[in-house]
Amino acid sequence: MVESSKHEGNKETQERTTLQNINNRSLKAAVIGLGYVGLPMAVEMAQAGYQVQGIDIDGAKVAKLVAGKSYVIGIENKAVQSLTGAGLFMAGTDYAAVTHADVIVICVPTPLTSEHQPDISFIAAAVDGITPYLQEGSLVILESTTYPGTTEERVKQPIEVAKGWKVGQQFHVCYSPERVDPGSVHYGVKNTPKIIGGSTPTCLSYGKAFYGSFLNEIVPVSSTTVAETAKLFENTFRSVNIALVNELTPACEQMGVNIWEVLDAAATKPFGYMPFYPGPGIGGHCIPIDPIYLSWAAGRQGSELQFISLADATNRQMPERVVKRAAELLEQNGSSMQGARIVLAGMAYKKDIDDLRESPALDVYRLLTEAGADVVFTDPMVPVFRKHDGTVAQAQPASPALWAGADLVIITTDHTGFNYQEMADHAKLIFDTRNATAGCVGGNIVVLGQPIRPEVNVLQGMKEIHELQIHENIRVSQKVNGDKRGLTDPIEADSATHLKHSHENSGGSHGES
Ligand SMILES: NC(=O)c1ccc[n+]([C@@H]2O[C@H](COP(=O)([O-])OP(=O)(O)OC[C@H]3O[C@@H](n4cnc5c(N)ncnc54)[C@H](O)[C@@H]3O)[C@@H](O)[C@H]2O)c1
Repeated sequence: MVESSKHEGNKETQERTTLQNINNRSLKAAVIGLGYVGLPMAVEMAQAGYQVQGIDIDGAKVAKLVAGKSYVIGIENKAVQSLTGAGLFMAGTDYAAVTHADVIVICVPTPLTSEHQPDISFIAAAVDGITPYLQEGSLVILESTTYPGTTEERVKQPIEVAKGWKVGQQFHVCYSPERVDPGSVHYGVKNTPKIIGGSTPTCLSYGKAFYGSFLNEIVPVSSTTVAETAKLFENTFRSVNIALVNELTPACEQMGVNIWEVLDAAATKPFGYMPFYPGPGIGGHCIPIDPIYLSWAAGRQGSELQFISLADATNRQMPERVVKRAAELLEQNGSSMQGARIVLAGMAYKKDIDDLRESPALDVYRLLTEAGADVVFTDPMVPVFRKHDGTVAQAQPASPALWAGADLVIITTDHTGFNYQEMADHAKLIFDTRNATAGCVGGNIVVLGQPIRPEVNVLQGMKEIHELQIHENIRVSQKVNGDKRGLTDPIEADSATHLKHSHENSGGSHGES
């Protein structure tokens, strides 16, 4: 009894101190893993006035940060420099810095193993790394995307065992998924609602107070497992819908229906519909991976999630379909895949980012090479990449000569940095897997999902009619939207652009996170 009330007293003091530290910004944080997720989160915390220690096992990344250089799009060098200068952000490789942290946020990778199963070894290593340095009263938050149960099994339990502590008493644990959409100009760390679940109600109250002190909206849920599952479901929803549209695409081609026009028309429904678009396949660290985490977790409880397997298989077929169609197009143009000079426009998995992870363009590149083509690439965001055979491919500068020298240009990523009209003016033949050439005039352009006809010029004629119709749609949409809500809202403006340039904010098969 005495012990218990003494403990209650400590707990109250701890709670008061933590909340005071949040209120006066004297709380110190550590972020473990300074990648696409961890660095922006660390910067956001530091900009809110907290002292943040970033820890990463990658010495090269740490060296860049120490030199004031960012390697993540959207985080400017000057942001790193000013926060470092103000003593609000430090980067290092040593877990010992956790000794000074009140809150530890883990943002390490969660890939798949070679057997296509969840690989949570990075989480386990991070937990092992921080545990010796954790102080009583600290809050550990996992942000890595992972299967339901990970936080309790792989964060809470090992710390309890190693330290002899009890969660909710001597330390606290939460799960809060990162939902960042890389490259998005509308949503960042601050204005994306933050889901959070705690191991205990006290853990949750700490987590809410912490994130709520610098983020716009907190969405508390009843447990860490609900928060873990919500994140996986969001990306599973995308994977399944992208697969549906990818499956419909060849069917529309055969039925003589232009899928882009169908999707733009469907997208005018103001309720109960969300657009997804076809493409060369899915990529990134989320859409191809997260659904597998969910089906694996359901599988270990004896439930089979068939939609996930079907969607995964459908989406993974896309690079092969692109290559098959490319071979048909070359043949129709009196050429063949063997020895054909092919330029891949875009290696990143989605527009305007430099991330190559799981990019479908890598598979397209490999399959074309295996089929005997002479493949080169151009990408304003990706200067080099390591090929499947271990050698390095260097980007070619985009130019009229590059387009003109190719038997076929395949648009695999719809970066805004490409000059599509220049491409159309000079390339002999373009296969556009993203509908990025909508709005271009002339050129031999075949768009994935357009009706299949033997003559590419016929397709071009159809494209011009399609553009006239889309132009009309935009006019009508602007009038309707302008009348209803005005056109000053950037999201609103984006949705008008979306109709013109098709799939701006959808992710389509772009594998957004
Ligand atoms: N990239 C996205 O768009 C995105 C979006 C939402 C969620 N997520 C999830 O966030 C997590 C992190 O993804 P990311 O894209 O930032 O990965 P990333 O590979 O860009 O960054 C992870 C960083 O963690 C470091 N690291 C690995 N093991 C470590 C360890 N034991 N200790 C310290 N550092 C370690 C790596 O060196 C790397 O710098 C993943 O679970 C991912 O699924 C990613």
